[in-house]
Amino acid sequence: MSTYTAINLVKRPSGSIGPELFEVVEKTVPQLEDGQFLVKQTHMSLDPAMLGWMSPDTKSYIPPVELGDVMRSSGVGKVVESRNPDFAEGDQVMGMFGWQEYALSDGKGVNKVDSNLDPEMVLSVFALPGLTATQGLYGEGDPKPGETLVVSGAAGSVGSIVGQLAKADGLKVIGVVGSDEKADWIVNELGFDGAINYKTDDIGAKLNELAKDGIDLYFENTGGPIQHRVFERMNAHGRIVVCGMISDYTAKQPSAGPNWMNIIRKRLTIKGFTMPDHRHKTPQLLEKITPYVQKGQIKYRSHILEGLESAMTGLNLFFTGENKGKLIVKL
Ligand SMILES: NC(=O)c1ccc[n+]([C@@H]2O[C@H](COP(=O)([O-])OP(=O)(O)OC[C@H]3O[C@@H](n4cnc5c(N)ncnc54)[C@H](OP(=O)(O)O)[C@@H]3O)[C@@H](O)[C@H]2O)c1
Repeated sequence: MSTYTAINLVKRPSGSIGPELFEVVEKTVPQLEDGQFLVKQTHMSLDPAMLGWMSPDTKSYIPPVELGDVMRSSGVGKVVESRNPDFAEGDQVMGMFGWQEYALSDGKGVNKVDSNLDPEMVLSVFALPGLTATQGLYGEGDPKPGETLVVSGAAGSVGSIVGQLAKADGLKVIGVVGSDEKADWIVNELGFDGAINYKTDDIGAKLNELAKDGIDLYFENTGGPIQHRVFERMNAHGRIVVCGMISDYTAKQPSAGPNWMNIIRKRLTIKGFTMPDHRHKTPQLLEKITPYVQKGQIKYRSHILEGLESAMTGLNLFFTGENKGKLIVKL
């Protein structure tokens, strides 16, 4: 009987993430029952949210992964055996398959993906990054041509798509990033109007220079000092879309937010959102983003790690900023 490798979460993180939090186990490839199919996962997505899923917090938007369970993740794979009439052997599929080489499914929450699509493109654009960017920008942000948008985490998988969508729609787009290489990529490859390196630039002075007319829309991926400098420069009736706060995910103490007075003075709207609330809208979100992709307006880059076990340390790349694009584990 053949076996496969899976990785279980066995300890909650309290600092950096490494093999000590996980247990690598060998499992037996299961026999199928009627209605089930077996997926051989080929590409697995790593996401900053995983840190939250590993924490014991039961009051967040999604329950934590139980200790002893396979670590949660989304991925792309091929159906290798099926007793489900809706999924045939050879189909390319996407779903929450977890940190494991094979996943058994009854089809719930699993979507078929055109077999001609490159799995790296699927995970970098049509999966969580593109859906999040589309929901956040259009569902929460109400962008209008001619407005000025600032996006933090701008070279990341979500931020880079937000900026390109907004640019294609005629907004002025400024991205905040953590290196000169990323600043160069978003301006010279993706066509952003300007970039700020939050590690080396004076953020406020750069915003004054690049966003002379103030900021109408802020897409927040990071939190930290960037948030304060942007908040001080929001225009009347500005919108702040809070997608992520990665600077606080590993902090012992959450950072203080800006004073609320500006919300009144500038009549600001601040909206947080998480994608599990919008999963049912996936077809509409894909319908929205696909024409931009077809017109070549969405470029992406994937940062590939090799082998299932690379996931155990790979997550740290988000917090050091070493990931260049969508972080994917190739199995
Ligand atoms: N609301 C939702 O449903 C939803 C869905 C997906 C993602 N998100 C959130 O969206 C954000 C981006 O996710 P992603 O998958 O696209 O990740 P990503 O941007 O590809 O990677 C994370 C990036 O965050 C930056 N970063 C790390 N620590 C930072 C700090 N202290 N200050 C400023 N920047 C920092 C790093 O880039 P630099 O080199 O530029 O520092 C790093 O590369 C995350 O906060 C994530 O949790 C939310």
